[in-house]
Amino acid sequence: ISLKPYNTFGIDVKAKSFVSVNTTEDLVTLLNTNQDQPKFILGGGSNMLLTKDITDLVIHINLKGKSIVSESEEHILIKCNAGENWHEFVLWCLEHNYGGLENMSLIPGNVGTSPIQNIGAYGVELKDTFHSCEALNLKTLEIETFKNSDCKFEYRNSIFKTTVKGQYIILNVTFKLSTKNHHLKVDYGAIKEQLIQNSISTPTIKDISNAVIAIRQSKLPDPKEIGNSGSFFKNPVISNEAFTNLLKNFPEAPCYKVSTSEVKVPAGWLIETAGFKGKTFGNYGVHKKQALVLVNYGGASGNDILKLSQLIQETVLRIFDIEIEAEVNIL
Ligand code: EPU
Repeated sequence: ISLKPYNTFGIDVKAKSFVSVNTTEDLVTLLNTNQDQPKFILGGGSNMLLTKDITDLVIHINLKGKSIVSESEEHILIKCNAGENWHEFVLWCLEHNYGGLENMSLIPGNVGTSPIQNIGAYGVELKDTFHSCEALNLKTLEIETFKNSDCKFEYRNSIFKTTVKGQYIILNVTFKLSTKNHHLKVDYGAIKEQLIQNSISTPTIKDISNAVIAIRQSKLPDPKEIGNSGSFFKNPVISNEAFTNLLKNFPEAPCYKVSTSEVKVPAGWLIETAGFKGKTFGNYGVHKKQALVLVNYGGASGNDILKLSQLIQETVLRIFDIEIEAEVNIL
């Protein structure tokens, strides 16, 4: 079958064998009967660039449902199965006045893949509300629990991308959310502006979500209309010294402090300054409003986009002497 509907880049590659699983039991049975076959685990398909047909057995994780684990004075623990759509889950939490996920509204993808790269936006990361997750060990077929500290979350990173990469399938994630006295994060400039524009002085979690949705819609392409995978690159972290050198040639270069010795430079700025923003190459290119996002206007191949990303990396390295690393998984 074609994997085009299963990846937000809209790349048309084929899978030799494809199974969508709706229950953990079905998943375990499937793994038991296909022990020696290489497997390709597919979630929301929002953070991958497919460059060739897949011969491995593709397992689409379609586990649905959510439940309340426990409730205390001000918090609630909600367990959400891996196959739930992230944004729909965020909206459901907002409807029930559960706070903590509002800044991460409209992020594409599924709940089960959110811990892998510690998704984040507008001053909040998944790790801030992640309580634990259950994951199936592909070798032993046992279910193991990972607490927040076990996952070693960092900026767009976790053990699921490093030390235990490819060894587990995340089945569900439990979030610790607030039920009152919500801790709002409005420091991000664009959120503040959006709230002022709408004359909101005491925002609710729903107001913040609406502000984030408006900001994202104004600069990020909707994958239903234009194929993309959000930020294609990570924002590079460089030493203060390297940044001082950059300022010599580019005095207007922006940065965010990450520690006393390092800063993060927006890759979008590097790519825009290198002249790529809004550039199109036939049916693919760099998004007009956010240079960090590569887009497939329809019919591009994974290799077209991969080559463009390499050209961008080489050009950025040549001009700024800074390496930018892909954020999406290239497969
Ligand atoms: N910028 C430019 N030109 C551009 C884009 C950005 O100069 O075309 C500069 C501007 O200085 C701007 C700054 O970059 O002020 C930051 O831009 P933006 O607020 O759009 O954030 P970002 O650093 O480009 C990151 C995340 C996004 C997340 C936003 C908001 C990464 C790799 N990306 O982007 O995450 O939504 O912050 O928090 O960290 C994603 O991971 O897919 C994603 C969209």
